[in-house]
Amino acid sequence: MEPTKTYGKNYFSDFELSVLNEPIGETIPLFEGTTSNVQTEQFEIFKSLEKNAPFINAGSFSNQVHFQNAYQTPVQRWFPYREGYSTRLVNTFIKELKITGNIFDPFSGSGTTLLASRQQNLNSFGIDVNPISVLVAKVENEKYSNSDLGNLNSEIEKLKAISKSKEVFQTCFDLADKVFNSEILQTLLQLKLHIKKIENKKTQNIFFVAWLAIIEDVSNIKKEGNGIKYKNRKRTPNGYINIDKDVWEKQVFPEDKFNFVKTKLIKHLEMISVDIRNDFGSCEKQPQIFKGSCLEFDKLFSDEIEFTFFSPPYCNCFDYFEIHKVDLWLGDFVAVKEEFRLLRNTGFRSNTNSLNHKPIIYKNEHLENLVSLFDSDKLWNTRIPSVVRGYFDDTHTLLNKLYQQTTKGGSVGIVVGNSAYSGVIIPSDVLIADIARKIGFKVKNIFVTRHLTTSSQQKQELEILKNYLRESIVLLEK
Ligand SMILES: C[S@@+](CC[C@H](N)C(=O)[O-])C[C@H]1O[C@@H](n2cnc3c(N)ncnc32)[C@H](O)[C@@H]1O
Repeated sequence: MEPTKTYGKNYFSDFELSVLNEPIGETIPLFEGTTSNVQTEQFEIFKSLEKNAPFINAGSFSNQVHFQNAYQTPVQRWFPYREGYSTRLVNTFIKELKITGNIFDPFSGSGTTLLASRQQNLNSFGIDVNPISVLVAKVENEKYSNSDLGNLNSEIEKLKAISKSKEVFQTCFDLADKVFNSEILQTLLQLKLHIKKIENKKTQNIFFVAWLAIIEDVSNIKKEGNGIKYKNRKRTPNGYINIDKDVWEKQVFPEDKFNFVKTKLIKHLEMISVDIRNDFGSCEKQPQIFKGSCLEFDKLFSDEIEFTFFSPPYCNCFDYFEIHKVDLWLGDFVAVKEEFRLLRNTGFRSNTNSLNHKPIIYKNEHLENLVSLFDSDKLWNTRIPSVVRGYFDDTHTLLNKLYQQTTKGGSVGIVVGNSAYSGVIIPSDVLIADIARKIGFKVKNIFVTRHLTTSSQQKQELEILKNYLRESIVLLEK
């Protein structure tokens, strides 16, 4: 793998990039006596994985690989999909690689890659296992006419006229009473029923996405870190304290809870309406979006792909279904626990809940060497070695299928973060590059976009290895 020198400054549109002259592994001195054996062994593995790796210092991408900007971006702001990246990032790659053919995102989430493809008037395909992601991506990528906008606005007017019902609404979500103030819960359920009765399907879907989007704001929980946290649980210098639920709700929610929730929904819908009005004519090509596993994408469409751009779940045990648990249950995407468990099982093997009984077929020598360094006493779950192996087994399956369906000269861009367990770093970027190269791809570049932090327990232990905790974009070419 020759380091690519072609990406000089400003190569990628207005993003300033520079070539890293030495592999990262060689820039870290091995201080004798200050590194443990496990660390020295890791350095050796990294050195071999990073030999001639075409690293690019791409700090200017750091704001593009996460959702922060998207909270303000028209259309993307319809649903706060915090695991998403920016359309600007995708657009930059599409333009610089001069893509004119089909684009694919095997983990389409809220549909950012598809949105960018549409902006460039290119055909695209997206897949996701999470039904919420599929709905959001479809609604954000739908083509709306003047009459659709008229219909949306007239339904918003009807919503304004709704008053509080006396009926008591039920939900099969067993945590609902903990997660919501009771009046807020009743309002959400009343509004959901109202939405289900909207006849025009496009309008109904927009309303439903808006309803899903406001849930977190009006609930007692927030999506944070690797799951959901109760807002009334506060961190203090002496540890966590729980503020009584009733006391906390009195402090943060207004007296008139019905109008509080209804107004939030109306405001959100009005913002969507403005975006639709401003977006007319910009979506000639409508993406095809499927619900399913990317590991079987070849069964869903057989068109050749010129460019695949995606961000998979990271190998860090983040559970996408856990983070969307409240929306999935309250939105009736799941009705019984078994359904929820099965849904989790369809996900990429990136967390302990996604482990199905699939065998691990692919073996990577570097990965095995790293897994052998895990300290089982320090692992917070005994199944972590299976997660890590399953993750790269799935990665191998996906890359293999992508290789088959990519046009000659076509590209694949992967936004991925490295992770760590018991003081051992899993450098997903270079491991993915290694797997891809063995399949037949050329590894064009590894753009290092930013450095990541780890849990406070591992921070000190990983101090000397911290350069390897990074988020990168691996660019492959067939
Ligand atoms: C990092 S997010 C992608 C975010 C997306 N790029 C965006 O901008 O919204 C990863 C996505 O992978 C999805 N996912 C997990 N396992 C999957 C699988 N086996 N097949 C397809 N999608 C999967 C998750 O539901 C999640 O939406």
